[in-house]
Amino acid sequence: MSHQYIHIEDSETLELREAGDLSCAGDEVVIDVAYAGINRADVLQRAGFYPPPEDASPVMGLEVSGTIRIAGEHSGFDTGERVCALVHGGGYATQAMAKAACTLRVPSAVDIKVAACLPEAFLTVWYNVVVRAGLKNGETLLVHGGTSGIGNIAVQLGKAMNCRVIATAGSSDKCQLLADIGADLCLDYKKAPLSEQCLEHGVLGGVDVVLDMVGGDFEQFNLECLAVDGRIACIGLMRGGQATIDLTQLLMKRATLTGSTLRRLTHEEKARCFREVDQQLMPLVESGHVRPLIDKTFDLRDAFAAQTYMSSGAHAGKLLLSCR
Ligand SMILES: NC(=O)c1ccc[n+]([C@@H]2O[C@H](COP(=O)([O-])OP(=O)(O)OC[C@H]3O[C@@H](n4cnc5c(N)ncnc54)[C@H](OP(=O)(O)O)[C@@H]3O)[C@@H](O)[C@H]2O)c1
Repeated sequence: MSHQYIHIEDSETLELREAGDLSCAGDEVVIDVAYAGINRADVLQRAGFYPPPEDASPVMGLEVSGTIRIAGEHSGFDTGERVCALVHGGGYATQAMAKAACTLRVPSAVDIKVAACLPEAFLTVWYNVVVRAGLKNGETLLVHGGTSGIGNIAVQLGKAMNCRVIATAGSSDKCQLLADIGADLCLDYKKAPLSEQCLEHGVLGGVDVVLDMVGGDFEQFNLECLAVDGRIACIGLMRGGQATIDLTQLLMKRATLTGSTLRRLTHEEKARCFREVDQQLMPLVESGHVRPLIDKTFDLRDAFAAQTYMSSGAHAGKLLLSCR
């Protein structure tokens, strides 16, 4: 028996290759992958800008859904169970290995395709919005990149927490999509400066938490839109890693600027967050209160085309690879 995976030949060439069956340690599982989620980090990895940690698989892919093929003896899982998992690389494949602590059972009401949208977004949103930025029920949350795979989950979590949610996107169609998933105020950042739009809607200076995946020249706006004691969680740099900000605003508002990258969290931290999202977020998907946006599904062998589509920015919602 063997399994297939996507090999990075060079930044412009991906190949479908074969290797032997995977095995795992007692606290791990091997998953027959149904779907793999595509993330920006994969595109950066292919381009050579985001080398995987030394102990990670060199194969792209950070999240999968599927069924348990091998359950390690201390994993707590059984063969055949439907799961989704955050993997330490290796998701673009027909088999993937995951730590049991980073694997979630998929309730029967949740489609296995939907489940592939969850691990990376659940962890990123929970860790940054709730754990680091401390979003509380009823506060105001601003999400940049609201229709992204990460952003749409943040918008819906904010609504599930009875927060007022403001979201940004780069077109009127994407803003409509944000309204459809419950955002209270949708701002097209290409239409007019965001500070002007927030002033017009009376929300400038009223935001408690910003989930920021763009950085760059939006950082000053993030500070301006914050309320006193507001928090900014930076998770991405779509507009660049350099920013000029007025530190006076930081002082006057007692603001907190924090950030993180999931890949650098310890296994223990990931495992702790996974227990929390299993209890707090999976039930929201099971009950239909959170419905991940899915844009398009590609065949595993078409991973390059899928990533090219992501780079174009035309998508709204998650991109997936079908790996069966
Ligand atoms: N730190 C972490 O642990 C972590 C984990 C996962 C993801 N991330 C980051 O989260 C972000 C979303 O990831 P994803 O996989 O969900 O990717 P994605 O679906 O491609 O999302 C990218 C988002 O960025 C927005 N965007 C792109 N260029 C922009 C610009 N110039 N100005 C304003 N917005 C812009 C896009 O909005 P429009 O299309 O509306 O312009 C889109 O919503 C990425 O930056 C990724 O690196 C971080």
